[in-house]
Amino acid sequence: MVEETMEKQYFVITYGCQMNVHESEKIAGILRKRGYVEAKSESDADIIVFNTCCIRENAENHAYGNIGALKKLKKTKPDLLIAVGGCMTQQNGAAEKLRKKFPFVDIVFGTHNLDELGALIDRKTGTKKAIIDIWEKEGEINETDNSFRTSFPNAWVNIMYGCNNFCTYCIVPYVRGRERSRDPEAIIAEVNSLLDQGYKEITLLGQNVNSYGNDKGSAFTFPQLLRKICERKEKFRLRFMTSNPKDFGEELIRAIADNEQICNLVHLPVQSGSDRILRLMNRKYTAEQYLEKVKLLRRYIPDCQLTSDIMVGFPTETEEDFRATLDLVKEAKFATAFTFVYSKRSGTIAAQMEDQISEEVKKERIMRLVELVNTQTREQSSAYRGKTIEILCEDYDEKKGLYMGRDEYGRMGYFQSDKNEVGNFIKLKITETSGVSLVGQKEE
Ligand code: 5AD
Ligand code: SF4
Repeated sequence: MVEETMEKQYFVITYGCQMNVHESEKIAGILRKRGYVEAKSESDADIIVFNTCCIRENAENHAYGNIGALKKLKKTKPDLLIAVGGCMTQQNGAAEKLRKKFPFVDIVFGTHNLDELGALIDRKTGTKKAIIDIWEKEGEINETDNSFRTSFPNAWVNIMYGCNNFCTYCIVPYVRGRERSRDPEAIIAEVNSLLDQGYKEITLLGQNVNSYGNDKGSAFTFPQLLRKICERKEKFRLRFMTSNPKDFGEELIRAIADNEQICNLVHLPVQSGSDRILRLMNRKYTAEQYLEKVKLLRRYIPDCQLTSDIMVGFPTETEEDFRATLDLVKEAKFATAFTFVYSKRSGTIAAQMEDQISEEVKKERIMRLVELVNTQTREQSSAYRGKTIEILCEDYDEKKGLYMGRDEYGRMGYFQSDKNEVGNFIKLKITETSGVSLVGQKEE
């Protein structure tokens, strides 16, 4: 007879950014507190939670497709709870659309009431009716960390929520509300506790970390927060994302330069190299101002590397605008970049602009951009051959039979070892470079 586990099981499916990945850790924490354990697959689960994203149409389509595919499972398992939360549900009218399309969904919640998921499950118990609860306004910040973390030795810590920037293409301010900074003491306590537990890499998360504290009269700024965290003297890495170039300045650069723990890698999304497009995007900087900041960063920290987010096909983008983007990519020498095709998001200003770019042109431009970015990344990676780098070991790759980790610039390095190295800093002599990843030998 197959032994049945008595414990209820959960399965969380995440779409979107790092912010969402961390929020899924919070969802898992809530479910574990209620006695659920993690299921190996969807079909074992008693509750399936979709943590959705709506930044681009394909993220949404992906979630819709996967939710739809659960109809069958729900039929054979009527007690299965299906909950849908995250950015997608927070859009105007989205909850209703979901209910109509997928009447078998049990719970719909938004970005502002994630902490209430436990209470929503209670409300669902004993009723056949779906529970739909989307808060229009952001609630109080919950300073208690209940996350169930699954990425040792890396840990993510929110320092702020929401966004005030209203870039014209972006849905985020509409679904995540206004900027709210966490208390510095609570952040520092959380980071200290993670370091006490042996975590070796902390990534501070916010839509625009440079405006941390602005909503509290700037009594405690982001560079101050970084310096405070770096008072811990043991070896660890500190990263942060994302920095909006318009607010990226000398004080922050100095904090990075002064503290060894802060990785010399800055993610600075440029979006476009055309001033006309940047203006239409409401980015509040020009290509030249962006490049000036890059120069300043490299003056203080010569070995600093940069990554970026770049978009093609914003409404009205011409071949000339696009070429300006290619020129900027060459000039900024990004280590790598996330490249995106503009996606029309209903409710944003850009969605109403005339001259939306055809799919064909967008496709052609993204291919050229990806080609350039990859070539630059490969060139930079090949310079690693023969060098010794330090990586933080994150995982064992079963397929390759090798341990894997990243250097401070985020480059993946693989190596062989007879013992478990996860969580260790390893010196690797690079023997091979393939694309973006590196293979090396551990130096004793
Ligand atoms: N279409 C395509 N890409 C987008 N991004 C944000 N909104 C959109 C959109 N509507 C990209 C930006 C941002 C990254 C997180 O996603 O480049 O920096
Ligand atoms: Fe993250 Fe934005 Fe997607 Fe929300 S909409 S998950 S904030 S990328």
